[in-house]
Parts: sequence; structure tokens; C-alpha cells
Amino acid sequence: MIRARRGDTLETRLENRLPEHTSVHWHGLRIPNAMDGVPYITQPPVGTGEHFDYRFVLPDTGTFFFHPHCDTVQQVGRGLAGVLVVEGDAPVPYAADVLCLLKDWRLDESTGRFLDFLTDSGAAKAGTFGTVRSTNFEATPTVRVPAGRDVRVRILNLDVTRVSQVGVMGAEAAVIAVDGNAVSPFPLTAWRMGPAMRLDVAVRAPAPGSTATVVDYFAKDPVPLMTLVGDGEMPASPGDFDPAPLYAPTLPEPDLRDAEALPFTFSSTAVNQTVKTPDGGVIDLSRELCLNTATYWAINRQTWPERGHELPPPPLAELTQGRSYVFELRNVTPHMHPIHLHGHTFKVLESNKVDRPVHWADTVLLTPKERVRIAFVADNPGRWMFHCHIIEHQDTGMMGYVTVA
Ligand code: C2O
Ligand code: CU
Repeated sequence: MIRARRGDTLETRLENRLPEHTSVHWHGLRIPNAMDGVPYITQPPVGTGEHFDYRFVLPDTGTFFFHPHCDTVQQVGRGLAGVLVVEGDAPVPYAADVLCLLKDWRLDESTGRFLDFLTDSGAAKAGTFGTVRSTNFEATPTVRVPAGRDVRVRILNLDVTRVSQVGVMGAEAAVIAVDGNAVSPFPLTAWRMGPAMRLDVAVRAPAPGSTATVVDYFAKDPVPLMTLVGDGEMPASPGDFDPAPLYAPTLPEPDLRDAEALPFTFSSTAVNQTVKTPDGGVIDLSRELCLNTATYWAINRQTWPERGHELPPPPLAELTQGRSYVFELRNVTPHMHPIHLHGHTFKVLESNKVDRPVHWADTVLLTPKERVRIAFVADNPGRWMFHCHIIEHQDTGMMGYVTVA
């Protein structure tokens, strides 16, 4: 975990000691395109033995993370990811700051070896699930928290596949931030978190020796993820549970009356596509480069080919810098897709199916057949990836990019 404060400059060197190339993407951070960590699109891939220096100012407070953007299903599947907390958003300090990092592992339970990270049957459906779940790299960790006081729990879904529906049993809890962005606190019942999504929750810690449990309600029986145990003396007068809102992020407000609406359909229809080479030739990427690679998913009927990073397909949309946009996201598949846009934080407006408060986010979960409208100001120039964060879907076509210029 890296902890810093808003306005700090983060300066870090990636040294690649893997047998394949890699990069680091700073998920959810509104930083310059050249620092976004997407090989071929924003920087050259960092080969074995090579290094790359990332340096940028942290623009926003909140709970973020970073991960490679190459062979992601394997690199993140093996655990390459880290947490980035940018402090300075809490007007009233919390009595504790607890990390709750969810990640599954694809392990053969008898040998302990990794299983295949991508399977065709999984990639074409909901994804290939891990066999072992973990929270903070343990089974169900127990964390001691100051009894009767309000603590902050930063929940991150860093799995590549699993959608969890998180809640807290045995204590009052309120959502205070989504993807690191403050919301006006509301009671947490259950919140669906797809891969890459974060949720900051204020919890009134239980009495000394009593417990509360962070759970996943997705299955019929709630799965315990983390146990909080009250520790020490109760405060003399704890008062009602009423967490103060975090400082609101300073994000550009989209002008909805003037915004251009662009439809994006997420489907399983992959079509062949062609790109022009610099010398005027035409290459059918899906035939020339992807003979052995299945593509199962598409955005606006355009699929991201396996070697698309090296020879990117045309952008999904060309945005004008400074303009407001409404993206009308339409999931026409029977599966869930957490959709992430790089370099911008968007406002999740309404959905035809799911009732959520309007909030800022960098990843939005599309449930089957759901339509969601998101809005933002295209204020960050560059080429920005736009993709599903179920990594097998991303790796088998459900990825593209938009340009801002
Ligand atoms: Cu966290 Cu392009 O992704
Ligand atoms: Cu998906």
C-alpha cells in the first residue's frame, strides 16, 4: 500500500523482473495520459530487465489501486496489484482505517499450483472464478477496532472475476465513498462491487469483545469476508451513528443540457475489423492476428483484438476536450460487466434497473440487460481505455478506447 496526500507528487520506478513485458496502470487516477500505463497506447511496454519511471501529482483523495495492463489475467491473477490511498478527505478523523482487500486465487487445492487463469468457457460467460477466496491475503481475517467508535473500512474488489455484494452484519454501517469519491453518507445494506470497484464504509465498531462481520451477500448464505472485534473501553458518550460526509472531490461538473450523448452497446457479438497500415494497406486484425485467439465480446460491435495493443483498432469515439458527454451504456448480454473509463471520473446518473444514488465513479457495474447513463467532462487529453474489468472479458474483446483532443 502506498499512502500519500492529495497534491503530493508520486514518483516511482517500475523495474520489470518478470519474464514478459508489463506496465503499471493507476486505476481511477486523473493523471496525464503518458503516465496511464497502457502499453503501446500511452507508453512502450516495459520489457524484461527494463524500467519505467512514473511521476505525477495526485489529483484526488480516496481509495485507489494500481495494476499491470499487460497479460492482466495472469499478472493480476498471480497477485500483481497494490493499493493507493490518497489522504485528506476526512473532516473528522476516524478511530481506525481498515483495509479490506478482496481477491480470489485460482489454485489447485491439492498441489497448491496456479490453475489456468483464462478458460474459454469462463471467458465467454461470467469469467473463471478462483478456487480460494481471501481478504487481505488471509482466509477471513479478524481485525481489532476501537470499541464503540467510528472506523473507516476501505473495501476493494481486486479480483479479476468475482462480483461481490458487500454488507456489514452486526453493526451500523454507512457508505461514505464510491471508487474513492465522497458521497453523502447513506446506510449500507448491500452494494454490488464488480472487479476494480471500491467502497469506503463507516462502521460503528462493536462493544469490547463483540464482533461485526463484513460479508458478501451475493450467494444465498452470506460469506464472511472479515471480522471486526471491538477492543478497549467504550467511549463515555458515543452519540448516534451519524458519520460526517467526506470532503467532496473537486471534479468538473458535466453540463447535461449541452452534453453530447453517445451510445455504447456491450455485447457478445464480435465482428471482423480492419485497420489501415501507415503505407495505405488494410489488415483484417481478427483474421491476421487472432487466428488462435477467441474473441467473445464487443463494444459497439467492435472487438479488441489480441494484438490490438500493438496495432490498435480505431477509437470508439473521438471526444472534444472540454466538452460534456453522456455515455449511454447498454448491456445486451446476460452477464455482468464492470465498465471502466481511464483518466476521468464520471457521474453515474440513472439506470433502467438498479436504484443507486447519483454518484461519481470510475467503474460502473452493468447488470444483465441494464442500461446506465454516465456523464463527464472530457478534460484530459489523450487516448483513454474503456473496457470491462472482468479481465477475461477485457482480454477477449470487451475493450476499446476513446480519444480526447
Ligand atoms: Cu483497472 Cu484499464 O484498468
Ligand atoms: Cu464483462
